[in-house]
Amino acid sequence: MPIRLLPDTLVNRIAAGEVVERPAAAVKELVENAIDSGATRIDVVVRDGGKSLISITDDGCGMGPEELELAVERHATSKLPSDDLLDIRSLGFRGEALPSIGAVSRLTLTSRPKGADSAWALVVDAGAKGKPQPAALAGGTRVEVRDLFAAVPARLKFLKAARTELEHISDCIERLAMAHPKVAFTLADDARSMLRLSAAQGELLDARLTRLGALMGRDFQENAVPVEAEREGVRLAGWIGLPTLHRPTARHQHLFVNGRPVRDKLMVGAVRGAYADFLPRDRHPMLALFLEIDPQEVDVNVHPAKAEVRFRDQGLVRGLIVGSLKHALAEAGHRASSTVGVATLGALRPEGSSPLPYRTPQPASGASSGPWGGGAARWRDSYTPPAPPPRGLADRAAAFQAPLSGLEAAPAARAPEYAPPAPAAAPLDEHPLGAARAQVHNTYIVAQTSQGIVIVDQHAAHERLVYESMKEAMIGGGVKRQGLLIPEVVELDEASANRLAARADELAQLGLVLEPFGPGCLMVREVPALLGQADVKGLVRDLAEELSELGDALSLKEKLEEVCATMACHGSVRAGRPLNVEEMNALLRQMEATPHSGQCNHGRPTYVELKLADIEKLFGRR
Ligand SMILES: Nc1ncnc2c1ncn2[C@@H]1O[C@H](COP(=O)(O)OP(=O)(O)OP(=O)(O)O)[C@@H](O)[C@H]1O
Ligand SMILES: [Mg+2]
Repeated sequence: MPIRLLPDTLVNRIAAGEVVERPAAAVKELVENAIDSGATRIDVVVRDGGKSLISITDDGCGMGPEELELAVERHATSKLPSDDLLDIRSLGFRGEALPSIGAVSRLTLTSRPKGADSAWALVVDAGAKGKPQPAALAGGTRVEVRDLFAAVPARLKFLKAARTELEHISDCIERLAMAHPKVAFTLADDARSMLRLSAAQGELLDARLTRLGALMGRDFQENAVPVEAEREGVRLAGWIGLPTLHRPTARHQHLFVNGRPVRDKLMVGAVRGAYADFLPRDRHPMLALFLEIDPQEVDVNVHPAKAEVRFRDQGLVRGLIVGSLKHALAEAGHRASSTVGVATLGALRPEGSSPLPYRTPQPASGASSGPWGGGAARWRDSYTPPAPPPRGLADRAAAFQAPLSGLEAAPAARAPEYAPPAPAAAPLDEHPLGAARAQVHNTYIVAQTSQGIVIVDQHAAHERLVYESMKEAMIGGGVKRQGLLIPEVVELDEASANRLAARADELAQLGLVLEPFGPGCLMVREVPALLGQADVKGLVRDLAEELSELGDALSLKEKLEEVCATMACHGSVRAGRPLNVEEMNALLRQMEATPHSGQCNHGRPTYVELKLADIEKLFGRR
């Protein structure tokens, strides 16, 4: 068979195979064109998931009749003025989207440049190009794509249900809208409005948050911290969710390079690295990050749909992301996301009813067939009925003062009249984590803030504090140690003792000084100062067990998290230890001052805040 050049229509149809694989891809190309044209509002209407109609109207620069003719030619673009593929400043640059779409649909372009007295329209029908005709349009450009893939039935067969295609279209517009907050967007399915985004106002970073809030939800808007950093001319800005706002998939991570939504392994990996300390592997943060980089430093021409990019200096980009995300999370300090409190209230409420209907609590024994739903049953099971009324008046008064069984009032709360006068400084409950009021079940600290109450898991919080200060100390050259008055001898099996002794140097850096003391025995001389009154024997035994699990391959530094958790477990403030008010307040203040103290090492919150307004709702007062 002779070799021959394929006709243009066929060439365009082949290109369309790569560029427009489904309606959403056509929408992406056309919306990108509208953004490139400088539009401030872009209206998209689709029918049948884009299969029978896609119409995109913008108020951008527009095109005259000659430009219209050129625009639908292959490799015709206005976006590479210097012929430099390494200097791409627009979303488009290949000059192939319109001819490709025109080859597989009936494409109508109607456009009127600024200042022109009339509009012109051009039709391309399954690759057959018409002549520009006078038309009516106030300004900007309208592109209509009808019967996409009608000329390629094979492709049509692979399309999914209209609803699915519509979802893809909506996702694609949302992603582009995130990157361009100052452009207004609408999406309608026939006459039904699906998306309506007004142009966000203000400084770019604030405008971004407004736009992200509209697309990712209020929870995100309220629980995101800003990122703004620059390194060697590469700028990173955006909003990242607090670690406690995690999700089971990475679907809510949106990454952009020079205004272009991308899926980039390097960037995803860097994000994972930045959150590694705070989240288990199977949970993912919510975030939107916008990287601005000199076009010379990134190749955007490596993927048919331009969804992937290649950085010249990968280390720089990775370092910038990891560094600035960690910094931003540290700035967030003790903050845990407000969703934690809301989720807690949800759990307290009987399912399907809100607020909680008032009923006399019943003893747990008769609970199983109660009229309440599962949520209430759970709540009721944990409810301890009040003790029978005591006989004497004095007894009754005492019962009134300590009305809740299991609640250990802290000394100051028990006798408020005798509390020492508050220091002249700001009252305690104006601190973010408030003033400690009580400890319950020797495990939780209840504090009063100006707006509600805070419940702290003292063990989880202390674990995080120890971890953070150990990390800090490690960076500063070693953890502060405290000598034991009488060195403690710990008996272990011989293998464990040897294993620990072999790691004595590393352990010393972490603040634990020990040495072999005969077969199977170790002598502990010093412990990390920040553990306070540590349970040395328990600590050493648990560490030995952990070392046998970790194996020899990893350095303790790499396993700092586990080791610290073990150490913190045997430190002074752990679950089950009673604390006095001073100790509790000290812990709260320390949390406020410590980065990342809002969550434990596994993304669980260390405290829960309940707003007064929500508590009132819970009791039906609102
Ligand atoms: N909405 C629009 N407003 C103004 N001009 C447009 C619009 N859409 C397309 N054009 C013009 O038509 C040209 C061709 O568009 P097309 O999408 O085919 O290629 P491109 O955007 O240059 O590159 P790519 O194929 O990478 O998208 C553009 O370069 C631009 O000059
Ligand atoms: Mg284009």
